[in-house]
Amino acid sequence: MSLDLEAKQRAEELSAEVSSSPLRNMAIQVHQAHRDRWKDTDDSMCRHSLSFHLHHTLRMEFFASFLYLLEQTPLVKLFAVTCEKIEGEKQFYYKAQKFYEDVEASEEGMMGDYVEISHVDLEGSRKFLSRFIGPGKAGTKCALDCGSGIGRVAKGVLLPIFETLEMCDMMEAFLLHAHEEYLGDDADRIQTYYCYNLQELAPPSKRYDVIWMQWCACHLTDRDLMQFLMRCKRSLRPNGVIIIKDNMARKGCKLDAIDGSIIRHLDIMREIIFKAGLEVLAVEKQEGFPEIIVPVWMIAMR
Ligand SMILES: C[S@@+](CC[C@H](N)C(=O)[O-])C[C@H]1O[C@@H](n2cnc3c(N)ncnc32)[C@H](O)[C@@H]1O
Repeated sequence: MSLDLEAKQRAEELSAEVSSSPLRNMAIQVHQAHRDRWKDTDDSMCRHSLSFHLHHTLRMEFFASFLYLLEQTPLVKLFAVTCEKIEGEKQFYYKAQKFYEDVEASEEGMMGDYVEISHVDLEGSRKFLSRFIGPGKAGTKCALDCGSGIGRVAKGVLLPIFETLEMCDMMEAFLLHAHEEYLGDDADRIQTYYCYNLQELAPPSKRYDVIWMQWCACHLTDRDLMQFLMRCKRSLRPNGVIIIKDNMARKGCKLDAIDGSIIRHLDIMREIIFKAGLEVLAVEKQEGFPEIIVPVWMIAMR
């Protein structure tokens, strides 16, 4: 029997049961064995390979990025990071949760090692946002800051423009700091603080002129990001826009297993936006950041 037929037969034998955990481990091992051969195979052969089931599982989590990751990250590692559960949570999200528990509720904490570029970042955001606000464009009634942290963007970009604001972050400590200290009197204009994971948040429908998501899309898996964007689309007011500002990989995408984030190439991000049923209105690179850091891009969509 040829190797291909053998693999196909084994795939058929396992197909009914492969979702059970010991078999999944086995599928991972077999997948590893087949990886080199894949370079030369076409789609239909992939579909018949033992690894198809593993593909399918990964597709559900990282349907756009996984092919890129496949080339750079050993698949077993990727699988463990995205799909395994610790204390009932997916490890990808668990890692981010643990990471931010140790982050200080301050501008330094929000900016990692780069607090000195915060003012350039905010200036770039204000300029980009101004393109979508005004007569015949988005209104200025209410905005939502997603993954707001302590409200650095809320304070420097959104509050000067919008009458009211809502903020969402998974870390209660950041939202408390925003309300009690960081936003000062402007905290009165925050209508709602959502202490939520974005992957679980269903924002109210037709509420926002602008939904801003900075350095947080990277913390969602492709599928969760796509689904969240679909929900955001429903919560826009007429002419409203969603703006993602995030690190974008120069090539492929890069998984950070320390803070549970994934840096995607702009094309992958575009693919997710497209799959969410949104239209990209403008794309702009943030200028003025040091060359050594990953490029940051702003994408406006509706
Ligand atoms: C790098 S900070 C950026 C904060 C803010 N957007 C800014 O630019 O200053 C990332 C923020 O995303 C939040 N975050 C990460 N994963 C999240 C998730 N799944 N749901 C909601 N918030 C999340 C973190 O708690 C943190 O406040």
